[in-house]
Amino acid sequence: MKHAALLGTGSCLPQKVLTNNDLEKIVETSDEWITSRTGIHTRRIASRGEENFRLAARAAEKALEMADTRATEIELIIVATFSPHMMMPSTACFVQAEIGAENAFAYDVNAACSGFLYGLDLADKYIAARPDMKILLIGSETLSAHVDWSDRNTCILFGDGAGAVVLSGSDSRGVQASKLYSDGRLWNLLYMDSPESLNPDLVQKDRQGCHIQMSGRDVFKFAVRSMEDAVKKLLTQENLTVDDLALVIPHQANVRILNKLMERLGIPVDKVYINVDRYGNTSAASIPIALDEVNRQNGLQPGDTVLFCSFGGGFTWGALLMKW
Ligand code: COA
Repeated sequence: MKHAALLGTGSCLPQKVLTNNDLEKIVETSDEWITSRTGIHTRRIASRGEENFRLAARAAEKALEMADTRATEIELIIVATFSPHMMMPSTACFVQAEIGAENAFAYDVNAACSGFLYGLDLADKYIAARPDMKILLIGSETLSAHVDWSDRNTCILFGDGAGAVVLSGSDSRGVQASKLYSDGRLWNLLYMDSPESLNPDLVQKDRQGCHIQMSGRDVFKFAVRSMEDAVKKLLTQENLTVDDLALVIPHQANVRILNKLMERLGIPVDKVYINVDRYGNTSAASIPIALDEVNRQNGLQPGDTVLFCSFGGGFTWGALLMKW
């Protein structure tokens, strides 16, 4: 059976850089606090002309160029996001129009920070059924539009950006296996409400509006435990150990979560790709941005096994193995 393998990768980050020192002027915080608690130094913030779908489209164009593929060859566009350009139509439809992928069908998936892994798993299933299909999968977020800039617990963490991959079927490369999970009972530990309803009966009076809300400590503990569990189950299922992994590309939430997770898994830090220090947490975009950086630095060799893992609101989480 053929699996979804990479033909090309691309990414696009907004121009504007927001440093920890800049944040000191917005909320009561310090560079020292943010760096020691999260490992984040800077994040990118979108400006006019850098809307979610435009970041996504620029990342897609770079991935298509690397894949030597025309936009009209793409049959499916999936955008993973929880900060869509509009509620309707999907951001994927805006991307389709922007890049001229007129032969594709297009839709969004929302699994918060796990969206790219969910999308990769989905793309792999399409390709199992239709191996020649060319799929454009994008993770893209403009979280700066949904952060409460007076809440120091959350506004220091997030950033904007997009990453894209072009996928098609391969016998020897691509997605090997995945384990995905969610637990909707824990939704209220990390969420963003909908814009206020115009039906008064449906207004959520007890919620705090359309901003990211988070119980940081609970999220931290659950993120470490759940990703550890998903990775261990996946490796056991595939008869692999951590020694078989060439590289781990995790969701870039924060350095302390990643250090704790890798310590528990017994994975040395030099096997883990980290760029959260530069971009903050870009949710569904974080793995494809990191993947594009690794790819453009020729960080992997044919035959290498790469592990992806993620955690996000829902809660959603999971792990996925890919053969390079
Ligand atoms: N600057 C300075 N002080 C801050 C602050 C900031 N930006 N944010 C919170 N604080 C304060 C708190 O108000 C609290 O003060 P108090 O003791 O006077 O009440 C103190 O720092 C400790 O807060 P706490 O929330 O316990 O800190 P923490 O060590 O748990 O670190 C996080 C906070 C958010 C960095 C940490 O919980 C975390 O990383 N959680 C996971 C977040 C995440 O990754 N979410 C996305 C998942 S996809």
